[in-house]
Amino acid sequence: MLSLMVFAMSCAKKVAVSPAPVLTDEMAAAKETYEANCQRCHHLKNPAIFTALEWPRLVDKMAPKAGINEEKKAAILSYVLAFAKK
Ligand code: HEC
Repeated sequence: MLSLMVFAMSCAKKVAVSPAPVLTDEMAAAKETYEANCQRCHHLKNPAIFTALEWPRLVDKMAPKAGINEEKKAAILSYVLAFAKK
């Protein structure tokens, strides 16, 4: 039993130090929405080229072009803000 616990704990530790960034389900879905709607006219813009102050205005301007609803717009905004220029 003790060895089982040690095994489980060592696994948990490995997950914690994993270098791969973990996207939540919500973020992964937002990323898909971004990729599906925002590269029809131009290449997909790297979220890191604009700051969190600049993105809302840009997404407001692009949403009508992309013909997306408020829900998709909000998802896209949350995605780009998460990776915006610091
Ligand atoms: C119908 C075509 C079209 C779609 C779809 C589109 N864009 Fe654009 N986008 C443009 C055009 C044209 C420009 C450049 C002219 C301008 O700024 O209006 C642009 C410019 C931009 C810029 C500014 C780039 C810069 O270097 O200044 C960003 C950021 C951007 N788009 C993001 C998005 C996002 C996010 C989406 C998805 C919601 C999107 N675009 C969907 C046509 C589109």
